[in-house]
Formats: sequence, structure tokens, C-alpha cells
Amino acid sequence: MKNYMAPMEGVTNWVYRNAYHDCFYPMDKYFTPFITAKPNKRLSSKEIKEISPDTNGNLPVIPQILTNNAEDFIKTAHIFRDEYGHKEVNLNLGCPSGTVTAKGKGAGFLGEPDKLDRFLDEIFKGTDMEISIKTRVGTDYEEDWERLLDIYAKYPVKELIIHPRLLKDHYKGTPRYELFQNAQEKLTVPLGYNGDIFSVEAYQEIRVKFPDADSFMYGRGVIARPYLLDEIMRTGGNKENFNRQETYKQKMRQFHDRIYHDYQEYLSGERNVLFRMKELWSYMAPGFTNYAKYLKKIKKSQHFGDYEAAVMSLFGEQEII
Ligand SMILES: Cc1cc2nc3c(=O)[nH]c(=O)nc-3n(C[C@H](O)[C@H](O)[C@H](O)COP(=O)(O)O)c2cc1C
Repeated sequence: MKNYMAPMEGVTNWVYRNAYHDCFYPMDKYFTPFITAKPNKRLSSKEIKEISPDTNGNLPVIPQILTNNAEDFIKTAHIFRDEYGHKEVNLNLGCPSGTVTAKGKGAGFLGEPDKLDRFLDEIFKGTDMEISIKTRVGTDYEEDWERLLDIYAKYPVKELIIHPRLLKDHYKGTPRYELFQNAQEKLTVPLGYNGDIFSVEAYQEIRVKFPDADSFMYGRGVIARPYLLDEIMRTGGNKENFNRQETYKQKMRQFHDRIYHDYQEYLSGERNVLFRMKELWSYMAPGFTNYAKYLKKIKKSQHFGDYEAAVMSLFGEQEII
């Protein structure tokens, strides 16, 4: 069973994944937030940092592409291959954001199955790279899924990572677990499960449901509790990669300080750094006791000084739940 870090725009970028990899139980793969393919694509410096070995060292990083144009997909994938040495690329068929789906991309592409089929045919013929897919299970109706499974079954997908929600679900309700089950019955390609693994208990429940899943992908659960995989592995009896002298709170502190330091080095200005840190805290703070007033202070901070004071008091006065 492999463990993957989910792509999360604005969160699981190269700074985050490097700090995570050094501080917590390492993931088997780290998927980049989506990179939009365009005609005559030139990568921006931000995109280069996401995928370059210069900024990612030996981390197993898989670049993710967002597009519904096969030629653009292939050209962008080949930039990743020829200039940065990538062998695998991931296709985003899950993004539910209105600006993306309105253009028929991300989860919006699932609403045009014939076009998707032609697109997949072209990209699998057009490159020797391994192509994995991250998908939702349809746009509006569970019935969409059958047709999509027929399409996926036709191609040599390296791995199909399924977030079993419809586009219209956004992130609401519980995942539609039975649709992941359908995929297991119908497909022979390796399947990855993604969605709502927020605790060790949730992990165990989903593991029991899908013991044959090839991988689990972690998003919001690991952002909120970066030590989640350490906890899962410890519960599972795997004692590797632990420094038992350190508490999770100490590890969180080191992790926070590393990200905060690196953002100060690579982003310009207090505003940009604090914007990123505040977004992280909106996930992490609820993992602490009595967090509300500390989170409020963190969110209100305008300068490094008041931000650091708020973070210091949270770590000093509260405990991890
Ligand atoms: C803020 C945010 C940004 C995201 N960005 C991406 C993205 O760039 N590409 C992608 O495939 N999924 C993206 N996702 C979806 C996640 O990868 C994941 O599928 C989703 O959060 C469900 O998994 P979870 O319940 O473990 O969080 C994003 C989700 C969130 C909340």
C-alpha cells in the first residue's frame, strides 16, 4: 500500500512538500498542484520550482496537468520529461472550481465523455510517458460513472486515483464509497483511493472497505494533522522513521518553523508569506485544544512580529488533540 500526498493548489507546493518529507513519515509520491497546459507553453518560474529537481531534490514528485487539449497535454508533458527528467505525469479530472469546469476542464471534462475518450486516445498514443489520472466519479449523476469506467478500461493508465464524489458534491457529504467498489470490480489498472482520510479511525475504516487499493492519497487530513501518517504507521506496527523522543507537538513546531523560514526566503514581502501561513493554519489550528482565539489572532496579524507572538502562544499554551 502506497501513500501519496494530494495536489492542493496554494498548499502542497514545493516548500510544503520538502518540509513535510524531512519532518514526517515520507510519502511514496507527491503530486504537484495542477499546472495548466497551454499552446506554446513556457513554464513560469513558480511552475519550474514545482517540478524541478533543483528545488525538489530526490523527492518522488509527479507533475499534474490540467487541460482538455491533447496536443497541449503532450507538449507540456514533454517539457517535464525532456527538461526536468520526469517519467510520469498526472491528468487532473477532478478540479470542481467553477472557473475550471466552465471551460470543460478538471471535473468538467467528465461531462463530455466522448470528447474525453478521444482526448485519452490521443495522449496515450502521443507519448511514451506514464500517465496516471486523478478523477471524480462524474458531474451530476452516479450513473455517469459506468460510462467513465468503460472509457478508463480502454487505456494503459499507470494508476487511477479516485475521489469518489461527483462534481456537484464539491466536498460535501460522505464519499460515494460504492462507486470506488464498482471501479475495483470493473478495472484491472492499479487504483488509488482519495477522500476524507482525516484520522487513524477513518483510515482504518476505509482500509477495511478497500484492502486491495494500491494507494491512499491524503489531502486535507494530512494538512490538518501532518503527523497523521506517522500515527497510522505507528498504529500499524511499523516502527520505521520515528524519532520517539519527540512529541508530535515538537515536530509540528519544527515543521511550522521550517515552512515559515522557507517562505520568507522564497516569497517577497510579509503579506505573501503571512497569506500562505494563514491558509495553513486554517487547516492546522483545529488540531489544537481551545484554538479559536489563537486562530483569530493569527488571521488578524499584519506583520511577522504579531504573527509569531500568536503562534508562540498557541504552541506554548495549548496541546494537540
Ligand atoms: C485548497 C484545495 C486545493 C486543491 N487543489 C487541487 C489540485 O491542484 N489538483 C487536484 O487534482 N486536486 C486538488 N484538490 C483536491 C485534493 O487533491 C483532494 O482530491 C481533495 O481535497 C479530497 O481529498 P481529502 O479529503 O484527502 O482532502 C484541492 C483541494 C483543496 C481543498
